[in-house]
Amino acid sequence: MPETTWWKRGIVYQIYPRSFQDSNGDGISDLNGIRQRLDYLAWLGINAIWISPIFPSPMADFGYDVADYCGIDPIFGTLEDFERLIEEAHAKGLKLILDFVPNHTSDQHPWFKESRSSRTNPNRDWYLWRDAKPDGSPPNNWISNFGGPAWEWDEATGQYYYHAFLKEQPDLNWRNSDIRKAMYNALRFWLDRGVDGFRVDVIWHLIKHAEFRDNPHNPAFQTSQAEINRFIQVYSADQPEVHEVVSEMRGVLEEYPERVLIGEIYLPLERLVTYYGKDLSGAHLPFNFQLIQTAWNARTIAALINEYEAALPEGGWPNWVLGNHDQPRIGARIGPQQARVAAMLLLTLRGTPTMYYGDEIGIGKVEIPPEAAQDPWEKNEPGLDLGRDPERTPMHWDGSAQGGFTSGKPWLPLDPHFRSCHVEGLRDDPASILMLYRHLIELRRQHLALSVGGYTQVSAEGDVLAYERQHGSERFLVALNLGHEPHTLPFPAGTKGRVVLSTVPDRSEEPIEAQVVLRADEGLIIALGI
Ligand code: GLC
Repeated sequence: MPETTWWKRGIVYQIYPRSFQDSNGDGISDLNGIRQRLDYLAWLGINAIWISPIFPSPMADFGYDVADYCGIDPIFGTLEDFERLIEEAHAKGLKLILDFVPNHTSDQHPWFKESRSSRTNPNRDWYLWRDAKPDGSPPNNWISNFGGPAWEWDEATGQYYYHAFLKEQPDLNWRNSDIRKAMYNALRFWLDRGVDGFRVDVIWHLIKHAEFRDNPHNPAFQTSQAEINRFIQVYSADQPEVHEVVSEMRGVLEEYPERVLIGEIYLPLERLVTYYGKDLSGAHLPFNFQLIQTAWNARTIAALINEYEAALPEGGWPNWVLGNHDQPRIGARIGPQQARVAAMLLLTLRGTPTMYYGDEIGIGKVEIPPEAAQDPWEKNEPGLDLGRDPERTPMHWDGSAQGGFTSGKPWLPLDPHFRSCHVEGLRDDPASILMLYRHLIELRRQHLALSVGGYTQVSAEGDVLAYERQHGSERFLVALNLGHEPHTLPFPAGTKGRVVLSTVPDRSEEPIEAQVVLRADEGLIIALGI
């Protein structure tokens, strides 16, 4: 795959489809709303949008409980709306990636209704049914990722079924070849409609240990943590046979030119990189969430970049993610000044960056009053700060009521700062985070050194992380101050540089010699040898 392939050079932008732009006043965003905002996305300069699930769903887990893999939920629109969206996105040079949720369906999916109707139903084996232990208790000690037992008793047929998430999300049996065929046809349904790739939900969960062994206790568990951490997930996920499934999915995508397979995987680095597959036959991009999970300091981040680069298999393409719909927003985590430094980091690292809608306008910490809570995880395990509503609040487009997101009542409250932090206003302010994102994206698109070029660490001391990116004769030094005090970095003798972008405006064109002076919370991109 050449280094100019779109998903290697490009930037992925995640849209949470309930929260981008409402077009019909029901307080929930929809496909026509997203289509109305394509010009904005083209202006921002990203290359591909990934939309979280838009398929028919009872919305127990907001679309991650799919009741039909080949349709559109009426909340979001129709198949015709989707076709119009993809056509217009393509006309503007934007790729479109869909979410694929193969680990579980909704309990309202016709397959599950069949499967639970009787023990002899032909679809029985499509899900994971097991007998109770002699005392009537569940078959093993596995826990749901949203808390509570992962087994639900079915009175009518006298067996338990397994659900890694909600009981409304029964897990499919990926050892069954019929389910594989049905799911691969669902992929083809969308690929035939021009979809450019998939982000595959919890791909490492697809296969469980054949004997359903008990997971071992986690000695480090504390009651302040989510209950899932009570046990170490040795047997319920990441089994060797999963790689066969991933490579089969990849095979389906290979039937079409230039499609991308992205896998959602929360595992330690050495396990994560196995999802590139044998001879790179697995996911093109196993999502790398290290930046989300790592403490925000120069040494730790530098070490993890090196570890990640070293762990990549030969030819495996790196990628970096700064936020998503399951994790606290970067602005909430490290504050508004450092969120700008984080943007520079994300967009100057080697590999494909994935950004999360709203981060580019600096949405920060949003408090959701308990009565407004929507997330089922928050409802199952309240008070542990696990809820994902704060990172799912609506986008702010202008200074009008509800930020131009909806003419109705938004499904989640907006960040109270929405009147001063919205696309229309930030576009007119050259010093805004939005314009910083736009410049960073533009620079990355102009210079191969910043996207596919080599990465060399220069220093990681105190608060400062500095690295060089190079491609052909082009060289850039990226110097990031991850702290709130100024710092000075020596500059190699005899080298000349020129600032091309600063996170704290404005130093562009400033010549650099002998040393780099970084102000508090400042990141700089310096063109070298100029
Ligand atoms: C993934 C999704 C998350 C969802 C879960 C179950 O982790 O990103 O939002 O709740 O899978 O499908």
